[in-house]
Amino acid sequence: MNVLITGASSGIGFETAINLLKQDHVVIAIARSSGKLDGLKQAVSCQAASSRLHTFPFDIADGDYSASLIPFVLERFEKVDILINNAGLLVNKPFPVTRQQEFMDLFRVNVIGHVNMIQAVLPYFNTGAHILNIGSMGGFQGSVKFPGLAAYSSSKAALHALTECLAYELAEQHIKVNCLALGSAQTEMLKAAFPGYKSPVSAEEMGRFIADFALNGHRLFNGKILPVAVTTP
Ligand SMILES: NC(=O)c1ccc[n+]([C@@H]2O[C@H](COP(=O)([O-])OP(=O)(O)OC[C@H]3O[C@@H](n4cnc5c(N)ncnc54)[C@H](OP(=O)(O)O)[C@@H]3O)[C@@H](O)[C@H]2O)c1
Repeated sequence: MNVLITGASSGIGFETAINLLKQDHVVIAIARSSGKLDGLKQAVSCQAASSRLHTFPFDIADGDYSASLIPFVLERFEKVDILINNAGLLVNKPFPVTRQQEFMDLFRVNVIGHVNMIQAVLPYFNTGAHILNIGSMGGFQGSVKFPGLAAYSSSKAALHALTECLAYELAEQHIKVNCLALGSAQTEMLKAAFPGYKSPVSAEEMGRFIADFALNGHRLFNGKILPVAVTTP
């Protein structure tokens, strides 16, 4: 399978990319930091065939898709089988002092960045492709909410709704769209959201689950927002 994954320079995306490469899939790994993407290359060279990994430093919110990312993708992939929209930003700040700019920054990455990516890749999906968005329990309707995460959680709720809309709108193109609303996994972002909290789920374990769901979940699910949480948070 040809897989495009964003936010692959650290945490869950990093581990998801490694797991896919271990299964011999071809991966284009995207994040802003080229240094951290080099770290992914190094990690892969010890565990899987690094020739199947292509890294591309790119900002999903601000990058030039038509002049930069898409030519890179088309040189490596005839078609895209799986797009994992995993990149994310978090601000942990009480709502009364969260600036409008901080809200906008989160929505630009956590929603518009994924919109940009999906629109740019749309002409190049294979029949039966899977778009997997990485949401959050924070944005899951009726879930327990935590102070300080209003901007983050509301941006994830928008991504959840986008998933449901696109599952219908892209059905004619035979593209399935799902979203995993993650609980917690031990990453830098979790530390920022819940300082001092230790998740029982490692980034590696979550990455393994996401890789498996990205490869197989669309056989049985479409337009679903699935909670992936054993604890709260
Ligand atoms: N960890 C959890 O407990 C948890 C819970 C619920 C949901 N999630 C979701 O899971 C996903 C992965 O989170 P994580 O915990 O692994 O966090 P993380 O380690 O902070 O990873 C976030 C990734 O997103 C990338 N990124 C951020 N802004 C970007 C941009 N504008 N363009 C391209 N890449 C960008 C970062 O790379 P660069 O900085 O190099 O760009 C990094 O690779 C996120 O969507 C997050 O909201 C995580």
